[in-house]
Amino acid sequence: MLINSKRFLERLEKINNLKINYKSIGINRIALTKEDKRSRDLIIYWMQSIKLKIKIDNLGNIFGFHNYSNKTKPLLIGSHIDSVKNGGKYDGALGVVGALEVIQTLIEKNKIEESIGLAVFTNEEGVRFAPDMMGSWSFTKRENIKKIHQIKDFNNVTIKEALKKINYLGKERQLFFKPKSFLELHIEQGPILYNNKKEIGIVTGVQAITWLKICLFGKSNHAGTTPLKNRYDPMIVFGKINNYINSLSTEKNNQLITIGSINVQPNQINVIANKVEFSVDMRNPKNEKLNKVEQKIKKEIKKICIQNNIKFSIKKLVKFTSVKFDNKINNTIKYHAKKLKYSNMNLFSGAGHDAQMLAKICPTSMIFVPSRKGISHDKREYTKNQDLFKGVNLLYCVAKDLLNN
Ligand code: HGY
Ligand code: MN
Ligand code: MN
Repeated sequence: MLINSKRFLERLEKINNLKINYKSIGINRIALTKEDKRSRDLIIYWMQSIKLKIKIDNLGNIFGFHNYSNKTKPLLIGSHIDSVKNGGKYDGALGVVGALEVIQTLIEKNKIEESIGLAVFTNEEGVRFAPDMMGSWSFTKRENIKKIHQIKDFNNVTIKEALKKINYLGKERQLFFKPKSFLELHIEQGPILYNNKKEIGIVTGVQAITWLKICLFGKSNHAGTTPLKNRYDPMIVFGKINNYINSLSTEKNNQLITIGSINVQPNQINVIANKVEFSVDMRNPKNEKLNKVEQKIKKEIKKICIQNNIKFSIKKLVKFTSVKFDNKINNTIKYHAKKLKYSNMNLFSGAGHDAQMLAKICPTSMIFVPSRKGISHDKREYTKNQDLFKGVNLLYCVAKDLLNN
């Protein structure tokens, strides 16, 4: 190992603050909460300990630079530290703590002339504020910052208020520097490497993702006295839509659709609902196929709601196209994985990542390490320490190579 695996592992454990009863509730570092702030402060402390120049932008993205200059384009490596609710301890955190270890080892072992940056992107998960990958989406200037600042969570708190509350509303504007290239180390979060017994995934791209928020409006009434013909029950319509949506989710078309969240009002056992709000997460490697599925779903919702006299609304929260990663970087990853004798394979990412946004502005790629049984976004998420170390070690060799070329 060229990296200091003991130091890396200690920091990963510290970020995850495992004193909390992790085993029962997993990691809860929701974007812009005090848990997120705790981890941000810790990373900044470690960045300061290796004398990185710290810059925070207007969406709270944290950057730590070695040899910063506003004339050169730095090699950027990093990921996110926010988590889903009851999530695992590697999603995002591996890429940030791994990047810190790589930069510290590069500085300790080499005379680095070029500029290199560590990135911690805000709100990659999007479970509190949509869209997901929000920090890297904002950094790459894909939306006006004033509009992003006004995005609200379920309690009507805006992004801007939440950033101010944890004191991470930075001064740097969007894309205040252009990276030379971007590298992200991440767990696969799926079963491919685990099933194929490979230690490293060389990521060729990321699939397209669309999120919808659908509201169905009915009329509340007494569950025991209201005849069926007098009912306007959105739950009945939800059931029909749910069946239709699941009929479109097929391995054949590489089409995945998930209804992950639902909110019923007034949510009482003996009251007919007056509102059902639910989310639809759709993924497909092919943009055009995903667009077709989205249109089919919208058309079917309209048809079922008209048949059942139910009003509805559909709001698009996310629409990110699929991206291809950089071949030259992937050849470099492959070369070093072979040299280190790490078993490896190419694969396409099912999960969204900050690299999906950075790929729009600079040569970008990712290194995956295996997730046991393909489990992620759950406290059962697990990757062997040896696999973590190999991922960070390979990231070090690739980063060093990219710095010199
Ligand atoms: O949803 C995703 O794919 C990512 O984990 N944000
Ligand atoms: Mn992630
Ligand atoms: Mn995730």
